[in-house]
Amino acid sequence: MAYADGDSIAMAVLRAGEHPRHGGTLCLAGDCGNCVAAVEGVAYVRTCQTRARPGLVVRRHPANAEPPLPVVENMSLTGPSPAARIRVQRAEADLVVIGAGDSGSAAAADAERQGRTVTILDARDGMEVVAIYAGPTIIVRTPGGMLHINAHEVVVATGAAELHPVCPGGSLIGLLTARAAQDLHAAGVDLGAAVAIGSAPSGVPCTPLPGRLLRIEGEQRVTGVVMTDEGSDGERTTACDTVIFGLGSSARDLLSRMSEDPAVTVVGPAAEAFPLPECPTTGTVCPCSRVSVEDLAGVWDRGF
Ligand code: FES
Repeated sequence: MAYADGDSIAMAVLRAGEHPRHGGTLCLAGDCGNCVAAVEGVAYVRTCQTRARPGLVVRRHPANAEPPLPVVENMSLTGPSPAARIRVQRAEADLVVIGAGDSGSAAAADAERQGRTVTILDARDGMEVVAIYAGPTIIVRTPGGMLHINAHEVVVATGAAELHPVCPGGSLIGLLTARAAQDLHAAGVDLGAAVAIGSAPSGVPCTPLPGRLLRIEGEQRVTGVVMTDEGSDGERTTACDTVIFGLGSSARDLLSRMSEDPAVTVVGPAAEAFPLPECPTTGTVCPCSRVSVEDLAGVWDRGF
């Protein structure tokens, strides 16, 4: 498969007119499960966070069932740990900044001006922080295994994630967040006839649609969007190849919520309070586990 320098696997797949999974809104930012595939035999790899390189073997997960997680056979509580197969390195650091975006880069530059030694970790560079424990200790997934860093201070600058739509048809191919659409357009990927719901991404040719989204139509790929038609109290269908969603954001605060250590601070959009979106009434909430709005409503009705 052809790809350009710097392409992620997901970008290369989209360039070829394919979808890394079987549908669902793509963010290309590591915030959803809609690009996971098996890479070099390892399932559940987010392909938008993994660089394409020659010879890499990438396979889609099966369409109707996710691959099982690996089972540890014959586990012994006294024998060697199965985790021993994973290389774990340990390091010490002065100040670690998680996230190399605007707020992370500004925090790092500030700290360096004050004479601190700064280590920047960013998932896009293959250094994905998966946890912060007391200490603070940072657990990082690296291309070669795991890295545990004991730091004097940690700055979480993980930014904000774009909201995904929850509506009928939300699992089709051809759905993008606004930032993903901008990335694809900048990479020269043809989005075809694109429509925008919510805030249209600047610089991307698309038709903004007024009204409230009712459903997305298509078999496997999107072929049209149905919105309320405020003029007639009815519905209006617009044919399209791509639907772009600019629905707002939410703080990417999973890591910051893991640690109450005073040596961990949060900066930028990761520390902001964003308005909650309107509550969805139908559709798939979690494509990986196939959880729908109806499933959640049933759980709440039972008192959970
Ligand atoms: S996590 Fe890769 S497209 Fe959303």
